[in-house]
Amino acid sequence: MELIELKNICKTYYMGDIDVPVLKGITLSIGKGEFVALMGASGSGKSTLMNILGCLDHPTSGEYWLEQREISKVSADERANLRNHKIGFVFQNFNLLPRTSALENVMMPLSYTHEHVSDSEVKRRAEELMNRVGLGDRMHHEPSELSGGQQQRVAIARALINRPSVLFADEPTGNLDSKTSEEVLAMFKQLNVEEGITVIIVTHDPNVARHTQRQIHIHDGLIANGQTSQGGPQ
Ligand SMILES: Nc1ncnc2c1ncn2[C@@H]1O[C@H](COP(=O)(O)OP(=O)(O)OP(=O)(O)O)[C@@H](O)[C@H]1O
Ligand SMILES: [Mg+2]
Repeated sequence: MELIELKNICKTYYMGDIDVPVLKGITLSIGKGEFVALMGASGSGKSTLMNILGCLDHPTSGEYWLEQREISKVSADERANLRNHKIGFVFQNFNLLPRTSALENVMMPLSYTHEHVSDSEVKRRAEELMNRVGLGDRMHHEPSELSGGQQQRVAIARALINRPSVLFADEPTGNLDSKTSEEVLAMFKQLNVEEGITVIIVTHDPNVARHTQRQIHIHDGLIANGQTSQGGPQ
């Protein structure tokens, strides 16, 4: 089943009199449970495309189908609602709240939504996720008391607290050394294989991309080889 379908997506930034066309007709499908790398040179539009996929921004034209619903023209409020329910984000610089325990950081996204999830259930889920990412013994550490790799694993746990359909990570290992990067990538792979979570990693680094099942290249505002599967056990 397709999780994501893009049809002829264009994105142009308008800066005063100047038009900056970045995405020029992206057509692409990503299935449920895929583990994908979105690749391309600096400035090629990877983050622009991820912002659209992650409902942080809308395209200038084209269709975006997410779980069989066309969402390219929904309001900002509805985009926020979709983000809260369907999407998890992991960023290069972790984006954890300082002076706040790892556990509270993980609980944070659910504390903001007006869902029918009790405080004790939120805590239970957060503890389960901290264990899941191998940090059961670091729940009460603050970000400054954790290594870079541990902070990124807390960020992964936080991204999963709302049980999203898809996890987006923009250069998630950009601030990590190579050994720690491998650990974090192994974490993504494990979540993908064991729990079927769809993972889309934005990277310019072939060493990161080789951990994924499929590499999608953006070049000159278009997909260079979007439908190529790179094998590996499915
Ligand atoms: N808000 C904006 N307003 C105007 N132009 C923008 C905006 N955001 C991005 N751009 C332009 O769009 C192009 C693509 O930017 P984008 O951030 O998507 O690239 P990227 O592939 O993620 O690059 P990097 O690998 O360096 O992160 C760049 O030329 C950039 O200058
Ligand atoms: Mg970028």
